[in-house]
Amino acid sequence: MYTQAMDIPDAATKPAGVSRTPDAQDAAFEARIDADGRIEPQDWMPEAYRKTLVRQISQHAHSEIVGMLPEGNWISRAPSLKRKAILIAKVQDEGGHGLYLYSAAETLGTSRDQMLDALHSGKAKYSSIFNYPTLSWADVGVIGWLVDGAAIMNQIPLCRCSYGPYARAMVRVCKEESFHQRQGYEALLVMMKGSDAQKAMVQDAVNRWWWKCLAMFGPPDADSPHSAQGQRWGIKRISNDELRQKFVDATVPQAEVLGVTLPDPDLKWNEDRQHYDYGQIDWAEFWATVEGDGPCNRERLATRVKAHRDGQWVRDAALAHARKQQERTNKEAA
Ligand SMILES: [Fe+2]
Ligand SMILES: [Fe+2]
Repeated sequence: MYTQAMDIPDAATKPAGVSRTPDAQDAAFEARIDADGRIEPQDWMPEAYRKTLVRQISQHAHSEIVGMLPEGNWISRAPSLKRKAILIAKVQDEGGHGLYLYSAAETLGTSRDQMLDALHSGKAKYSSIFNYPTLSWADVGVIGWLVDGAAIMNQIPLCRCSYGPYARAMVRVCKEESFHQRQGYEALLVMMKGSDAQKAMVQDAVNRWWWKCLAMFGPPDADSPHSAQGQRWGIKRISNDELRQKFVDATVPQAEVLGVTLPDPDLKWNEDRQHYDYGQIDWAEFWATVEGDGPCNRERLATRVKAHRDGQWVRDAALAHARKQQERTNKEAA
């Protein structure tokens, strides 16, 4: 899940200015960016480029692992063995996405411990979409359809990101997100062929998630300070508002096939623009959630911290095992 829209300044890190560098290195970096080439970990890069990537990739990684929590709540309550198997696979995929992304961020010189400390102490951000509750089984379907759908829209351009390890991680992530989106949509299609109560459950979930998903693309372009530099560096290829529009245009026909109403009276086709117009997003609510006051912020963070603490023995055992193996290899070599 995650995304460009998650490049939101953390509480403790102000965006860095471009540091002075030897001209030749700077020129080589700029030339490669201009030629649409890839920057690799061993290459020289401006400090501000590195910091921007660390912030964005680590926020993305945090979003993947926190994103496991709202859906993980439903694994034990899935309505059939088939749905349970699908949901377990999806939630595991999200854990895997987090691991690829932490690894990509580590190539920029930040340790996983540093990143996890920032998440667990509340300094680092993750996507605010995961600070809302999953109230019914239909929420699991709607998250797949809309939340993973929005994530795909955000992430496909990242497969061409100028930083090589991030771009390569996104190729596999996007393939898996596509499965996430389709399993969610298919689960909803089945429910919409069911009883009136099931249909009402789907409509209720769509009503609660629609606006939150539009906000996932981040603030309007005019209020998005990181976007211009991100575009210049080939990190962010398409603006927040353009991505949001693409998402709306792609989703309206899917809602029609599904037979649900998207909760926006201003949503209508604009013949001149050849796009759907849509209503105002509640940015005050979005920012309150980003700043920690959403319905589940505290619960999500507490669950994540507990999971990390509960897993300490696994990390200790793995390290002890690796040490023993290394000692054995050393002895054999001696
Ligand atoms: Fe994901
Ligand atoms: Fe996903």
